[in-house]
Amino acid sequence: MREIHNIVILTGAGISAESGLAIFRGPEGLWEGHRVEDVATPEAFARDPVLVQRFYDARRENLKRVEPNAAHAALARLDEAWPGGLLIVTQNVDDLHERAGAKRLLHMHGELNSAWCRACDMRMAWSGAMGGDPACPGCGVAGRLRPDIVWFGEMPYEMERIDAALMEADLFVSMGTSGNVYPAAGFVQTARYCSARTLEINLEPSIGSYLFDESRTGRAGELVPAWVEEVLK
Ligand code: APR
Repeated sequence: MREIHNIVILTGAGISAESGLAIFRGPEGLWEGHRVEDVATPEAFARDPVLVQRFYDARRENLKRVEPNAAHAALARLDEAWPGGLLIVTQNVDDLHERAGAKRLLHMHGELNSAWCRACDMRMAWSGAMGGDPACPGCGVAGRLRPDIVWFGEMPYEMERIDAALMEADLFVSMGTSGNVYPAAGFVQTARYCSARTLEINLEPSIGSYLFDESRTGRAGELVPAWVEEVLK
């Protein structure tokens, strides 16, 4: 087996579930009572910006009431202790990885605590409400801010950096993601193609589970700390 130097970790909503944040594809197929396409597409925002802003304002407020869990803490510990290359790519728009202390982190689907002004194209930290059409602190134009979140049909952030990391990876680990959404769902194939070992950690086997060398099923709060212990041993 190839010696492990570079690790790429992909995380999804399942890693934050034990903190109390809802996953996207729950048993009832809804995200906090909404169909994903009613709140997470540019078309939905164009059609009903008030609903979409209200939805994300509620998610942003909710974020203030939750804390990172043992899985976030374990990944932060790995980030601090691992001497080789490491990149945590999260599909999550929450800030629980960074609040746990992770540094080598990339938000490929954007962040709840960031606003994007469509008038001046500036992105800025944003922790309050975006509904009510506040003015952009940069250009002063009101009503042009949107959540800095990658919606369906939009291009995820930093794909070149992610691809480069996957091509260099000796180990790719996917955790807490159902494998429904591309391009993230295809990272395992890139990693395999470049000879990385691949591991999945999820509550249940994901759609692409068969593509991984190993699949561990159970709660992230238990399995991720155990895996980090193994890696740092
Ligand atoms: N521990 C581990 N896995 C868990 C846990 C847990 N405690 N709880 C739930 N899971 C698993 C579920 O079994 C499911 O397979 O996490 C997965 C979450 O899947 P999704 O809800 O589909 O979330 P995710 O894969 O992150 O979604 C990808 O879809 O809507 C878009 O942009 C959004 O980033 C999101 C993307």
